[in-house]
Amino acid sequence: MWNPLFNNTDIFTRNKIDCANFEKNKDKIKKQAEQLLNESGFCIFSNTDIKESSQVMKYFSLIVKENFSYEGGSFARKKLADNVYDTGCPNYCLLAPHIEMSYNPVMPKYLSLTCLESPHNGTGATMFSDNVSITKKMLKTKLGQKLKNLGIRHYRRLHSDMDKTYPDAVKYSSWQVSYETNSKEKVEEYLRKSNQIFSWGKNDMLSIINPQEAYMYYEKTDSNLLFFGPSNHASMFDSYSVDFQKLDDDLRAFTLKFGDDSEFTNDEVLELHKFFDEDSYQCFYEEGEMMIIDNMMWQHGRLPFAVAPGKTRNIAVTLGDKYFPDKSRDDKWYPH
Ligand SMILES: [Fe+2]
Repeated sequence: MWNPLFNNTDIFTRNKIDCANFEKNKDKIKKQAEQLLNESGFCIFSNTDIKESSQVMKYFSLIVKENFSYEGGSFARKKLADNVYDTGCPNYCLLAPHIEMSYNPVMPKYLSLTCLESPHNGTGATMFSDNVSITKKMLKTKLGQKLKNLGIRHYRRLHSDMDKTYPDAVKYSSWQVSYETNSKEKVEEYLRKSNQIFSWGKNDMLSIINPQEAYMYYEKTDSNLLFFGPSNHASMFDSYSVDFQKLDDDLRAFTLKFGDDSEFTNDEVLELHKFFDEDSYQCFYEEGEMMIIDNMMWQHGRLPFAVAPGKTRNIAVTLGDKYFPDKSRDDKWYPH
């Protein structure tokens, strides 16, 4: 489905910051990182002393003022340490590009990915997609204009951990895991507070609908940027299992529709992926390297990976600083 061309980019070497003498050079490293994030929305901390998830925040907190919990997130992540999560995607799956938590009314401004263990075998590359370039190209097309005019709707279905009838083969994140609570009241309070449309179904199945614009204004680029990625569509589950493939889009853990409730055709899903083909870059990082991205300027994803017995790929994810998406502005569209 997604066949990135992986054009070359030197951003992975150009935006690398040596953190060998972290304590001594902390101020300099912070300044350099802030400058790179402002200019291009991307930097890499290399030569860190990070060996385990509990050390990640020491570096990430140089950039972010406050932690951002994964509360309300749609991926089935495990917590590795305070504010540190795993990637929440099985190794055999292709995780197409996305903006972290764009389906939520509030999302993280920055995201970090730290390599704790690498399979060192050329699989499982982390992907970064240039959201500015993709937005410019999309707006020139019929699909891009359709999205501009109709907007989008995120649909989510979260089963209950207590529902023993829900088939294991198509289980994804439960609402208890997603909202980090067993209390329906707390979930409702969170959803009401953030103006989300929700309902409870059979066996406490939680359904959520979030209507949004397909492009949102971003002050750093002073432009309207695409505000979702291909992985928000139910086709994301096609690489999960045959059981998922048999399941209608509406019955999968999440999907995406146009704002008038019409579905993406197969051709439109393919077209959407194609926009990302030319502007996605693969990155293999060394153990102890941390990538920090601006969540609006770069979308991210991951290719499937294989591991030899006794080896693994262990990436720690952290989110930071709240960002409330802004409505698109009439005078901030790229030419189309
Ligand atoms: Fe993600």
